[in-house]
Amino acid sequence: MSDYVVRPITDAECRPTLNLLIRSLNGVPVTDESWALISGSWAADGRTGAFHGEEPIGIASSFGTELTVPGGAAVPMGAVDGVGVRADWTRRGVLTAMMDFQLRDFVERGYAVAGLHASEAVIYGRFGYGVATRSATYQVHHPARFREGVAAPGRTRLLSAEEAIETIPALYQRIGAHRAGMIARPEKWWPIQFDRSFTRDGGSWRLAVHSGPGGDDGFALFRNVPQNSYLDPDHGAALEVRDFHAASPEAEAGLWRFLLSVDLMEVVNVRGRPVDDPIGLLLDNPRRAATVRVDDELWLRLIDVRAALAARAYGSAEPVVLEVDDRMLPENRGRYRVGGTGVERTDADADLVLDVDTLAMLYLGAWQAGPLALAGRITGASAETLARVDALFGTGQPPWSGTHF
Ligand SMILES: CC(C)(COP(=O)(O)OP(=O)(O)OC[C@H]1O[C@@H](n2cnc3c(N)ncnc32)[C@H](O)[C@@H]1OP(=O)(O)O)[C@@H](O)C(=O)NCCC(=O)NCCS
Repeated sequence: MSDYVVRPITDAECRPTLNLLIRSLNGVPVTDESWALISGSWAADGRTGAFHGEEPIGIASSFGTELTVPGGAAVPMGAVDGVGVRADWTRRGVLTAMMDFQLRDFVERGYAVAGLHASEAVIYGRFGYGVATRSATYQVHHPARFREGVAAPGRTRLLSAEEAIETIPALYQRIGAHRAGMIARPEKWWPIQFDRSFTRDGGSWRLAVHSGPGGDDGFALFRNVPQNSYLDPDHGAALEVRDFHAASPEAEAGLWRFLLSVDLMEVVNVRGRPVDDPIGLLLDNPRRAATVRVDDELWLRLIDVRAALAARAYGSAEPVVLEVDDRMLPENRGRYRVGGTGVERTDADADLVLDVDTLAMLYLGAWQAGPLALAGRITGASAETLARVDALFGTGQPPWSGTHF
């Protein structure tokens, strides 16, 4: 018998388990001031703890949201927004027990999928999560000028922190989760992930809003980071940008134009953007914009494989029969016929075999089947089948999430 139990946390256990989480991620416990800001959004619902007696030793936290899938439908998703095990309890199966409990909880809540952002890439595959979107970090070196003729007719203005906190949630909702991989941001997401930006880092974060012909249509959170030092006196300041969303290509270009117009900057660093961000194309010298990193972004787990597969749209090709294995949710095991006309369970012979984590990698269109087969993640498939999988699951636009949690 194990010397700990895994169970939902109580309201009184919210702050201690949050502190446990923060410490596991190398942070320091929340101050009273910070707790006052976020406690309303950090309620017990959706949070699973591991306890040795009364003492918390692990936390796996989540909130409910919706994920946009290819074709534009939204499916219910459990967003795992914090996982940590106390340093003196690691590698004794605590995370495994919490994941087991949490996945069952997600089944009961009727989520079709679960998603998370991983601190390390080796942790979550064993629990059925696969990398379903990737995001890019761009570095634009000045002088960076727009090409003549780039359409960006709008105007960008700065908001105060209070204005940003009041107006940006509605703007995000209006912009909409328009790309596969994007999620709805529930009310409790904002105080923790957005509002706190304005009290962190010495109050250096600012918010730019873009307005086009139809009103506000994009925003970007940014700050100036002075980089002058006696070691490198010529090294100028950097503009650091995150949480950059726009409703249209014109709004996107308009925000870029603004970010590149801020004076006294040597470089603009933008994290967490789609891998197909157009910035290089917008500049007269494309080499001024370098893609410095592409990282795994949203890790996805299909909780109800049939419902998740049925929710998305497919390209036009003959159906494929997938044989799916799922160690932790065995009710998902079996064969699925997937095609443009629908998805059904079947006894027909399988065209290919894969685990549920690999299916998550295909699900939003981030990866092609050939490299997944090369990596041993897809087996039993002919070249023709792999091409058919790409024709069915491929999306013209790479998926992107764009929301940290
Ligand atoms: C990551 C973390 C939650 C793992 O918790 P844990 O209780 O040690 O995990 P488990 O004991 O259940 O490990 C399950 C398996 O995953 C492996 N594993 C777990 N964490 C790992 C890591 N960081 N690197 C490599 N392997 C890891 C274990 O070795 C074990 O493998 P096995 O089944 O072959 O024996 C814990 O190390 C932690 O809190 N890390 C710091 C905070 C963090 O990174 N949290 C995740 C945020 S997304």
